[in-house]
Amino acid sequence: MPKTNDEQIRLFVADRACHILSSVHESFPGKWIIPVNCCEDVLETLVTSNCTPIFVDIDEKTMQVDQDELTSLLVRYGSEIRGIILIATYGDFSRNEEAISVIRKNSEGIIIDDRCLSPPIISKPKSISSDLILYSTGKTKYCDLGFGGFAYSNLDINVPIVDFEVSSYLEKINQSIPSIDSHKEKLNSIYNSLLPEYIKFPESLNQWRYNILAPDNLTRDSIVNEIFNRGKFCSSHYLPLSDGAFPRSTRISRQIINLFNDFHFTEDDAILICKIINSILDETAVE
Ligand SMILES: Cc1ncc(COP(=O)(O)O)c(C=O)c1O
Repeated sequence: MPKTNDEQIRLFVADRACHILSSVHESFPGKWIIPVNCCEDVLETLVTSNCTPIFVDIDEKTMQVDQDELTSLLVRYGSEIRGIILIATYGDFSRNEEAISVIRKNSEGIIIDDRCLSPPIISKPKSISSDLILYSTGKTKYCDLGFGGFAYSNLDINVPIVDFEVSSYLEKINQSIPSIDSHKEKLNSIYNSLLPEYIKFPESLNQWRYNILAPDNLTRDSIVNEIFNRGKFCSSHYLPLSDGAFPRSTRISRQIINLFNDFHFTEDDAILICKIINSILDETAVE
């Protein structure tokens, strides 16, 4: 399928990104492929719009959908698949293009490029290879305005009207991004310089939060609990959305810890977190 060109692409704005997802699912009900490590809100949106999720595991190294597994699902279900949601895990959408071309070769399904944890890009793209690119500015997102989501799409969908002014909303995003970027850069460089290499994640996955992997000789919770005991906080990735056999998501979700790099955290907080983690690693180091 050719890329959609400029004239066909429209901007959709909603109170939440999920409202845009619902509009798509309601217009294209049926089976949808969804990464099993995705957040519950996305799954709930799908299910409440009378769609059936078909889960796909992820590749542990990239944290994106496993392309071989995706291809075999597309072949197995054929035209029953109405759509595929690609998630930019931790904000990294660099591999979505590759996945989109795999899907286009094997399916007529609608493709959503969900970039809700990525830095939002408000300018209209010249062309898009998916059918909808989605961003969120809701709570805990990269650009956390506490509300709002938007999409660029060629689809004919009905998104509920918002009661805020769209141009001011987009302007607010534009104005907020530089200070968010620079705060994240500062905190990420602290984590980068103070934490050991063997617990780090690839750089491209550290936009939304800074991620580390608990080493094999330690449980994730022993690190998380110690951070909370010392009056600080962090988050961890939930288990897969389905209790089916998704070994890669299951394994990695038990190891990932997300360290904060947003305005709820200062440089001193980041330094303290590194000290806590390093002292646990030292105490438990295998000789
Ligand atoms: C990947 C992803 N897509 C979509 C959403 C929904 O965004 P919103 O809260 O704006 O509805 C979330 C929410 O956490 C998300 O993580």
